[in-house]
Amino acid sequence: MSRFPRGFVEDLSMEEPKTSLRRPSICFRPINPSDLERLEQIHRDLFPIRYESEFFQNVVNGGDIVSWAAVDRSRPDGHSEELIGFVTAKFVLAKESEISDLIRYDSSKGEETLVYILTLGVVETYRKLGVAKSLIKEVIKYASSIPVCRGVYLHVIAHNNPAIRLYKRMSFRCVRRLHGFYLINGQHFDSYLFVYFVNGSRSPCSPLDLVVLVLNYVRSGIKVVASKLTMKHEEKGLKGVKCKDNMRCLLPTQSKRNLASSERVSSGYDYV
Ligand code: ACO
Repeated sequence: MSRFPRGFVEDLSMEEPKTSLRRPSICFRPINPSDLERLEQIHRDLFPIRYESEFFQNVVNGGDIVSWAAVDRSRPDGHSEELIGFVTAKFVLAKESEISDLIRYDSSKGEETLVYILTLGVVETYRKLGVAKSLIKEVIKYASSIPVCRGVYLHVIAHNNPAIRLYKRMSFRCVRRLHGFYLINGQHFDSYLFVYFVNGSRSPCSPLDLVVLVLNYVRSGIKVVASKLTMKHEEKGLKGVKCKDNMRCLLPTQSKRNLASSERVSSGYDYV
């Protein structure tokens, strides 16, 4: 699979980074060999896991890893090409992946693949500006442009709330909690497995999801009307007696979350 063929793909008009009054001009480009040192440095700074030098070589030389770099081209100090964020990912065969059971296969499409996000990071002074969101969007756009690709997925350690919020906000589905998935300094940590389906595999809002949504809405509407009618009827029959459980009568029934197993969680956007 070829590395994504692009130069600058987006130029974000951003709020100022917290460290200066400059207005950053964030651009996205492929990671190249000149990024090696900086890439290793940011990985060391941001992740509790140590990555092999083979991994970094693979990223910068575009082996079987695809990657996007975020740079601030408005930096006046000669660092305008220096990474301020990145995302790295690789292709895996859908049927060999750990989410093979969740894929809707289409035999006419040939060997189906998934994009697995390996690492995502934004240096601290450039956070909360939408850089990570844009990087993930690039991955999704890229995955969607490959007809045999069925989705983008990743693991995130269970206590990484900023990253979990990001993936949920971007309509990734949390499909599993994996107990003791990470081993860091001799201690096990759980991870969540998030998936974003593309190319009709299982979109975040498929037609089926919409039908279920509409049916639930109609059903809850009917219940509200029915409970109002019941109350009127009761009020007529029992003059002066009020429905004690007024609030409960009027609230539509909320649909229960469907927890299929201890490891698999709701098919909506929530995680356990
Ligand atoms: N103004 C104010 N807030 C904003 C703006 C803006 N213009 N744009 C985005 N935001 C907010 C978002 O609403 C979001 O808020 P929330 O967290 O309260 O929901 C928040 O900023 C983050 O969104 P982004 O800006 O897109 O994300 P960011 O660039 O800050 O990067 C990341 C998030 C990657 C998790 C970063 O915190 C990080 O690098 N953490 C350390 C490494 C890490 O945890 N990586 C992910 C591990 S999982 C994996 O690698 C597969």
